[in-house]
Amino acid sequence: MVALFLLALVLMKRSPIGVFDSGYGGLTVLSAIRAQLPHYDFIYFGDNARAPYGNRSFDVVYEFTLEAVNFLFEQGCPLVILACNTASAKALRSIQQNDLPKISPTNRVLGVIRPSTEVLGELTHSKHVGILGTQGTIASNSYPIELAKFAPDIEVHQHACPMWVPLIENQQYEHPAGRQFIMEDVQQLLSTNPAIDAILLACTHYPVLQQQLEELVGPNIKVIPQGPLVAEKLATYLKMHPEMDAQLSKNGDLSFYTSETPTVFNAKASHFFGEKVEAQHHSF
Ligand code: DGL
Repeated sequence: MVALFLLALVLMKRSPIGVFDSGYGGLTVLSAIRAQLPHYDFIYFGDNARAPYGNRSFDVVYEFTLEAVNFLFEQGCPLVILACNTASAKALRSIQQNDLPKISPTNRVLGVIRPSTEVLGELTHSKHVGILGTQGTIASNSYPIELAKFAPDIEVHQHACPMWVPLIENQQYEHPAGRQFIMEDVQQLLSTNPAIDAILLACTHYPVLQQQLEELVGPNIKVIPQGPLVAEKLATYLKMHPEMDAQLSKNGDLSFYTSETPTVFNAKASHFFGEKVEAQHHSF
């Protein structure tokens, strides 16, 4: 009887994939991951009350990200995706190297920079790619450093767009003043080298601008969102790591947490996720 009860408990145990972002942007990544892995369970945490992370120091981004990772571990996630470029650039390595061995040597934390740079080389003919991201991501130089490992023949041209996250979060990106800011940033990136034929949106918020950016750059330049790249690489990772895959529960469950008031989060989140979102509150 006791054995049966314990077996039922084991079978019922939820071991979701945790997805973390500073705010709403990671929902664009979660949406792509869920399309690729619809049977898996997911928990999303958006640290909206403390976003944006883009202009924050290394120490603060690391501290906040580690808190979020620990929260997702406590929710039973053996695997956490940092679906935030700023957190991936500023906190991932320290967490993987210094914290994980102490917290749980079998849990894993993955970011969005490596899966993007692994394939970026295949998406350019001219061998000149543009990277648009937050100030933190661009200043970290994570993209040129990672790309040099996978595609050393590619020239990387970076540009930081500090106004884009506030414009997107406040839904001002279609306002004429918002459009002007966005156009100027795109022109500044393209003026660095006219041969750029692929632009990676290295911030999870930016896919909301996909159509506007495609119109701005014209048909000869690819505008690449990260979600599908990360989703595909995650599926490959799970095939290559059956010990992790076996741990993950697969009931198609989805839950959301935010450090902001849930009603505020829910109202905007569906815009990024493409479906109705009902979040619970968690703060540190
Ligand atoms: N989601 C973050 C990223 O991908 C941007 C938002 C922020 O600055 O917090 O870099």
